[in-house]
Amino acid sequence: MTTLELHGSSINIAPGALASIGPSIVERHPGCRIAIIADQQVSQLYGAKALASVLAAGLKLGTTVGGTVAPGMFSFPAGEQHKTRATWATLTDQLITAGHRRDTVLVALGGGVTGDLVGFVAATYLRGVPFVQVPTSLLAMIDASIGGKTGVDTAAGKNLVGAFHQPSLVLIDPHLLRTLPAEHLRAGLAEAIKHGVIADAAYFGWIASSLREILDMAETDEETAVRLVQRSVEIKVEVVSRDEKESDVRKILNFGHTIGHALEHVTGYGVPHGDAVSIGMVAEAALAERLGIARMGLADTIATVCDAAGLPVRLPEGIDPADVVMATRTDKKTRAGQVEYALPAQLGEMAGAGSSYGIAVPEAAVLESLQHL
Ligand SMILES: NC(=O)c1ccc[n+]([C@@H]2O[C@H](COP(=O)([O-])OP(=O)(O)OC[C@H]3O[C@@H](n4cnc5c(N)ncnc54)[C@H](O)[C@@H]3O)[C@@H](O)[C@H]2O)c1
Ligand SMILES: [Zn+2]
Repeated sequence: MTTLELHGSSINIAPGALASIGPSIVERHPGCRIAIIADQQVSQLYGAKALASVLAAGLKLGTTVGGTVAPGMFSFPAGEQHKTRATWATLTDQLITAGHRRDTVLVALGGGVTGDLVGFVAATYLRGVPFVQVPTSLLAMIDASIGGKTGVDTAAGKNLVGAFHQPSLVLIDPHLLRTLPAEHLRAGLAEAIKHGVIADAAYFGWIASSLREILDMAETDEETAVRLVQRSVEIKVEVVSRDEKESDVRKILNFGHTIGHALEHVTGYGVPHGDAVSIGMVAEAALAERLGIARMGLADTIATVCDAAGLPVRLPEGIDPADVVMATRTDKKTRAGQVEYALPAQLGEMAGAGSSYGIAVPEAAVLESLQHL
C-alpha cells in the first residue's frame, strides 16, 4: 500500500482496498456512524462489498426517530445531469430522516460526480461532517478525489455552487477499474497523459508504451493499473501541495483545459471532457511551439499518444476555430485582457515559472494554432 498526505487527507492506494474500507475508516473515525452514497450503477457493482466491510468493522448506521436502523446505502441516478442542487437536497433529506448526526461520516463511493456531490453534501450537512472518498473511475482516482473541491452544477454552468471540503481519507482500489466502461477509462487517461506532459516525461513515455495493457483494464495486470494510478496521484498531490509555498503552480494542472473548456462551451458540452482536454492539449502545445516556448514536434508527440489512446486530436467537424477563441474569453484566467495559458516547454516541464505559470497569449496566435491543428 502507498500512502500520501495532502491538506490533512490521507490518500491510500492499494489493490483490493474496497474490501477493507471498514477498518481504514474505523482507524480514522472510531465509533462513527456511516452512510455510503453511490450512483445506482456503482451501487449495484460495489455497494454490497463496501457495506459489508463497514458493518464487519463494527461501524454504526443511522437510527431513525422511531429507533429503526436506517439503511447504510443511499443512491441516486448516475450521470452528470444529476450533479445538481436537487440531488443534494434529496440526499440531505434522506440523511436527516435516517437520523444522521454530527458523528456521521459520509462515504462517496463512485466517480467524480459522486465525489463532488457527496463532498458538497458533507460540507453542508449540519454545517459540515467528515467524508471519505472511495473513487471508482480513473478520473476520480487521479483527479477529482484529490484537492478538496466539491460542488454541483446549475443550469447556468458546471460547478457553480460548491465548497472546499477535504476528505479525511481517500481510499483508492485500482482493481475497480476492471469494470470501468472504455469511454470513461479514456477520459481519465487524458488527465494521466496531461500529468506526464506537465511533470514527468518518463511517465508520459511509459503510458505511451503501455497503452495496449492500459486500454484493456479488464485483463491488465495489477502492476500496470497501480503504476498508472499511483504516479498520477503523486503528481497531482505534488503540484497541489507545492501550490501553498509557490503560489499558482497549481495552474499547470490546467494544461489543455483553457481550449478544452472553450470547446466544451461552444459545443454545449457535446464533447466529453476527456476528449476536449485531449484536443486542448494538442492545440495548446502547438500554440507553445508557435510562440517559440516549446520545441517543434511536441504537439505531434502528444497527438500521437492521445490518438493511440482513442482520444480525438482535431477540432470536431463544423466547429469554427474563431468561436473557440471567443469562448476562451469567458475563462477566469485573464491578464490585461489576454487569456492566460499554462504551456509546456518540453515533455515533463512547464514554461513560465517566472510568471507564476500563466502566459498571456494574443488571440491571433491561438486562432492560428487552431486553424492549423
Ligand atoms: N473536484 C475536482 O477537483 C474535480 C476534478 C475533475 C473532475 N471533477 C468532476 O468529476 C466529474 C466526472 O467524473 P467521472 O468521469 O468519474 O464521472 P461519473 O462519476 O459520472 O462516472 C462515470 C460513469 O462511470 C460509472 N462508473 C464509475 N466507476 C465505475 C466502475 N468502477 N465500474 C463501472 N462503472 C463505473 C458511473 O456510474 C458513471 O456512469 C465531473 O462532474 C467533473 O466536474 C471534479
Ligand atoms: Zn480535466
